[in-house]
Amino acid sequence: MVEIVRRLADLRSAVGGWRRQGLVSAVVPTMGALHDGHISLVQAALARADRVVVTIFVNPKQFNAATDLVNYPRAEASDIAKLETCGAHLLYLPAIEEIYPPGFATTVSVTGISEGLCGAFRPGHFDGVATVVAKLLLQTGAELAFFGEKDFQQVKVIERMVRDLDIPVEIVACPTVREADGLALSSRNLRLGAAEREQAPRLAAILFATADRLQAGAAVAATLEAASAEIIAAGFRTVEYLELRAESDLRPLDTLERPARLLVAAWLGETRLIDNVAVVRRGGD
Ligand code: PAF
Repeated sequence: MVEIVRRLADLRSAVGGWRRQGLVSAVVPTMGALHDGHISLVQAALARADRVVVTIFVNPKQFNAATDLVNYPRAEASDIAKLETCGAHLLYLPAIEEIYPPGFATTVSVTGISEGLCGAFRPGHFDGVATVVAKLLLQTGAELAFFGEKDFQQVKVIERMVRDLDIPVEIVACPTVREADGLALSSRNLRLGAAEREQAPRLAAILFATADRLQAGAAVAATLEAASAEIIAAGFRTVEYLELRAESDLRPLDTLERPARLLVAAWLGETRLIDNVAVVRRGGD
């Protein structure tokens, strides 16, 4: 049975009890509408920790468009059923006052790594993410925290924040889970209409093909330009960005001189999809 707590005091007493017994705890922060990507994070956490806390909190501070917050999928009953099945120990479903009590006035802002890519198109988004993740890490006090590489820039922002603020937690990044047709799992996929759902996997297909071309030595700028045109030709409305960045610190790359990530954000109708893949020079590091 997954235990459900909504109050910080109850969360602290559960995790504190585990710590006194010498048990290692992990946290998987989410915004709910759980899919197999989230479940893979819980499984990775169960493999490393004795007790796993999943948090579900749809964080208003990280939505830069009010409609996006309103439309964000919510599925509490099926989320609970999924957590029962996968063996999570505790679900923290905080009321808004537990995260942002009246008078809340602190923002955690990670400069540098949160600029560009999604940060350029979603003003305030990473401040909202960093602030809520700092709170969730400090509230749970877990030794390990699991995040999906699907949100690659988010992982990098959180790693930087944890280092900078000496939050005593190990951040574990887990690989993106994909549908059989390649589409990266995302709660936002629920918003795709039937025709869009058929077009959506082209984004991953183009991303993988572009990574192959870069790995084979193709020139970066021209290859990315051609790939953007392919994404538009595949039915996407806009490509916000398609960029090659260093895997370690997301610095922009115009040659494949070090391990890299190819990252994309594109709109399919009214749905914004993001994805990324690793790109490593063949025979290189
Ligand atoms: O990746 C998400 O679902 C959210 O950004 C997170 C990390 C749970 C913070 O609200």
